[in-house]
Amino acid sequence: MNKTDKKTLEEIIRVDHAGERGAIKIYEGQLLALKTFKQDEDLKKKIEEMKEHEKEHFEFFEKEINRRDIKPTRLLPLWDIMGVALGFGTAMLGKKAAMLCTASVEEVIDDHYKNQTYKLKEDEKDLKKKIEKFRQDELDHKDIAYEEGATKKGLYKILDNVIKTSSRIAIAISEKY
Ligand SMILES: [Fe+2]
Ligand SMILES: [Fe+2]
Repeated sequence: MNKTDKKTLEEIIRVDHAGERGAIKIYEGQLLALKTFKQDEDLKKKIEEMKEHEKEHFEFFEKEINRRDIKPTRLLPLWDIMGVALGFGTAMLGKKAAMLCTASVEEVIDDHYKNQTYKLKEDEKDLKKKIEKFRQDELDHKDIAYEEGATKKGLYKILDNVIKTSSRIAIAISEKY
């Protein structure tokens, strides 16, 4: 049977665990802004729904981390702060920026999850299926974000680049450390 490389497998679970937790933190930051300075019931509801999916994703990887005895990334506390800051900041900029944040992150995650499915072999069929399912959820989030007004026009293009670059850096670091 085709076997998944052990180190690769650990990196996959470590980074996805961090990423899904980061997604929850981004939404928590956005919800904080939406409950205080930027009241928007409709947007709040949408974000709460997406956050529920991220919770389900995170709980899956949390179980895998424990079950397989994989070390989570040491940088979780840093990603928590940065996630909340990114979420809060984008929501304070307005609905378009808040939704762009989701769109930008999900576009990175789409590629990220797709690449992982190539690395998982027959011995990790179930994990691969889960990641494929989660990838579909993230694509749905991206669609919701565009429906709700995410845009890359003008200065938003810069924000898109900043979010994508930061996400890629966070991914690269969380795989190894
Ligand atoms: Fe997710
Ligand atoms: Fe998502």
